[in-house]
Amino acid sequence: MMAQKKPKVADARRQAAIDRMFDEGQGHVFRFWDELSEDARNALVEQCATIDFDLMNRLVAEHVKGAAGKKADRVIEPAPMVPVPASDEEKRREAEAHTAGVKLLKEGGVAAFLVAGGQATRLGYDKPKGTYPITPVKNKTLFQLHAEKIIAASRRYGKRIPWYIMTSIANHGDTTGFFEEHDYFGLPRGDVHFFPQDMIPAVDKDGKFLLEEKGRISMNPNGHGGSLLALKKSGALADMKKRGIEEIFYFQVDNVLVKICDPVFIGYHHLEGAEMSTKVVSKAHAEEKVGIVGLINGRLGVVEYSDLTKEQMHERNPDGSLKYDGGNIAVHMLRVDFVERMNKGGLQLPYHKAVKHVNAIDEKGAPVPKDVKNGIKFETFVFDALGEAEKSVTMQVRREEDFSPVKNAEGEDSPETARRHLVEQWTRWMRAAGLDLPRGGKGTSPWRIEISPLTALDEEELIARAKTGFSFSWELYI
Ligand code: UTP
Repeated sequence: MMAQKKPKVADARRQAAIDRMFDEGQGHVFRFWDELSEDARNALVEQCATIDFDLMNRLVAEHVKGAAGKKADRVIEPAPMVPVPASDEEKRREAEAHTAGVKLLKEGGVAAFLVAGGQATRLGYDKPKGTYPITPVKNKTLFQLHAEKIIAASRRYGKRIPWYIMTSIANHGDTTGFFEEHDYFGLPRGDVHFFPQDMIPAVDKDGKFLLEEKGRISMNPNGHGGSLLALKKSGALADMKKRGIEEIFYFQVDNVLVKICDPVFIGYHHLEGAEMSTKVVSKAHAEEKVGIVGLINGRLGVVEYSDLTKEQMHERNPDGSLKYDGGNIAVHMLRVDFVERMNKGGLQLPYHKAVKHVNAIDEKGAPVPKDVKNGIKFETFVFDALGEAEKSVTMQVRREEDFSPVKNAEGEDSPETARRHLVEQWTRWMRAAGLDLPRGGKGTSPWRIEISPLTALDEEELIARAKTGFSFSWELYI
């Protein structure tokens, strides 16, 4: 292969960025330099200037050239959990947590934090996932559904709940534009803050950068763990402190059932003085492919499905429940000062590698076919911060009330299952409120039903509204 000619530019800072690429053995990214416009050249060099080579060299040495992750030494044990309340004592504790959570919300001590920087690859949707229409009757988007839950919660607690939204460079403009277009769904603009997370280059099997286009290096968002760094870098953390926020409710864009700012969860976490907490659900079956919250060498973390032996997956407690249970649903509480601490000396979360298809062109400029696993992506996971928390609460919740993610275009965890779970949840609430809906084949409503979060955020609210003779404004689609 012919040696790549080094481009020469007038600006010393940009020249230094080019020189560094060559020094690091990545000069091939300038392969198409002669074909690029002035703007495209500048954009490419600016992109080069964002790369953290200390990090990249370490990742390539560990994950591409070396043998990373000696998981064999790991001792895995179940984590202690707050169960779904069954006994009177458990119910009393839940009520206590609820009171504490409501108090903090009424004091304005909680912010909502949405991570929406992902690429929605599995869904195959090329716009931000939050703009996906999801509700069964009104076709509200995921963003609107979340926004209305936040509005309803602020009304309920009589306090503004600021909403921080992490995007990525790839979807930032589309995300903010969507909120503009929809007038922030009724939220005060000053309470919604957007900021992008960092991007990290993908590499090929030799640790070389790939080109997404002739003038752009293939990069991906640095994983939801990058949110802890982005909170700090963007000034969001400082803004929270100014507003007197103590606790952050973290959630992901694709969970249609997420109870944003759930007072019970906030309360358990806050009363415990925990730094980071997690909600979990029971596994659907022993071999369900979910990460479970557990102790890894004595520290809290998420145990990947593949790290449990078949025996461990099936092992049961004396009461018949699974020993290794507690599927992570990516709903967390984070203390503001914990996020601050996690950023001391730069974010220390480990990077994980995934060998997958990376959007790239080959040496001749032709796109690499989508079915070719041509690259390695690096990502951090927010749950890796659990092991750093001095105290933590793992709270078990009912899947049907808290978790239904939109991940895939079809089948499991798809828009279809999410819509069904919404209808099932709202049907349960309506029945509890005294409305006897006809049952379909599987005991669920055969109708499309929708309850706006602005009408009722939960079953209790719907029941209360029904008692006062509230005339329901939901729609039934027959
Ligand atoms: P997933 O890991 O499910 O990724 O993200 P995704 O982008 O939604 O879908 P795939 O994997 O490309 O199919 C879970 C949550 O974390 C956010 C996503 O936006 C989603 O809310 N996320 C993920 C980020 O904010 N940044 C990332 O780098 C990765």
